[in-house]
Formats: sequence, C-alpha cells, structure tokens
Amino acid sequence: SNDSLKKTVVDAIEEYEDFPKPGIKFLDIFSVYRSKPAHEAFSLLLERYAVSVKNSIDAVVGLDSRGFLIGPLIARTIGKPFVPIRKKGKLPGPCHTVKYSLEYGTAEMEIQTTALQKNANVLVVDDLLATGGTLEAACKLIKSCECNVFTCWVAIELVALEGRKLVSSPVESLLQL
Ligand code: PRP
Ligand code: MG
Repeated sequence: SNDSLKKTVVDAIEEYEDFPKPGIKFLDIFSVYRSKPAHEAFSLLLERYAVSVKNSIDAVVGLDSRGFLIGPLIARTIGKPFVPIRKKGKLPGPCHTVKYSLEYGTAEMEIQTTALQKNANVLVVDDLLATGGTLEAACKLIKSCECNVFTCWVAIELVALEGRKLVSSPVESLLQL
C-alpha cells in the first residue's frame, strides 16, 4: 500500500540538527537514494503520483538542485517534458529571473523563456517545503512564462513552518514531518 511505502521512505530520511545553521533541522533526501528499499518505494510513489496527474498537466518543472532527483522520473513516467528552474547564472540563452528571500539575504532563480509552451499546465516539484519562499519564487517564474501552476508537489513538508501559506498555488506533499 502507499502507507507502507511511505513508511519505508520516512524511515530512511536522515535528520541533522543545526545544519546549515544553528536552530535548523535538516532532512536529507539523499539518504533515501542510498537505501535500496527506500529508493524503490519512493520511485513507486512518484510513478503512482505521476499517473494520477497525467491528464491534468503538460510539463513537469523541477527546482535546482534536489528537485532534479524527482522531476525527471515523474516526467518520464507519463511522457511529458521536464524543464529545470536553476539558480541564477546556470542556464544558457534568454531567461526569466526572480529574486526570493532565504532565512539570510536573497537569492535568484531562472527559467529559460522558451522552455514552456504558453498556457501550459505545469506541475512544480521539489524535495522539501520549509518557508515556502523557493516554491513561491518558482510559481512566479511559471507565471512569467504565461503558464499555469497546476500544483506544487513536494516529498517532505515541514508542517510547523506553515510554508504553504506563502505559496499562491495549490501545494501537495507526500510526507508531512
Ligand atoms: C532547499 C530545499 C528546497 C528549499 C526549501 O533547497 O531543497 O528547495 O530549500 O526551502 P524554503 O521552503 O524555505 O524556500 P536549497 O536552497 O538548500 O538548495 P538545494 O536544493 O540546491 O540544496
Ligand atoms: Mg532545493
């Protein structure tokens, strides 16, 4: 069942206190990929989710960098394009750019202006939702491309931070931790 697959994934997620700075608890998605059963369970859950949204979306957008672990598998499962959003300065050609705030200072992310077809329904995926700043910035970039965010999907939602309140599009999470 999905619940037993989710438990296999949760059990493999390693937590680090005070990373990348004091007071922050870091949940490491890469530990899932080190465990054969957890990697298998996570992949199955992603494939099932992909099939469930196949008829609602035109493209999958993944966020630099850990969203790149997730987006291509979903896109491949349902035969849709995968498009990256990257941290500023990494993508060639004309890009839309958005500034967003982190716990400390600001950062910028980009999408190539021609990567998505106008009016596409887009699934945005990432590993984790914390403050929501990253996902909301991604939503702004999708809108800059004159596209619609169907939903934002994350593997892990840190529910206590209430990050989904900052996101102007629907948010779905696999695991609420
Ligand atoms: C982490 C995580 C999410 C984001 C969530 O990425 O992978 O993308 O933070 O935080 P927020 O909800 O508070 O915006 P990070 O910026 O550390 O980069 P990485 O994925 O390249 O490691
Ligand atoms: Mg990230």
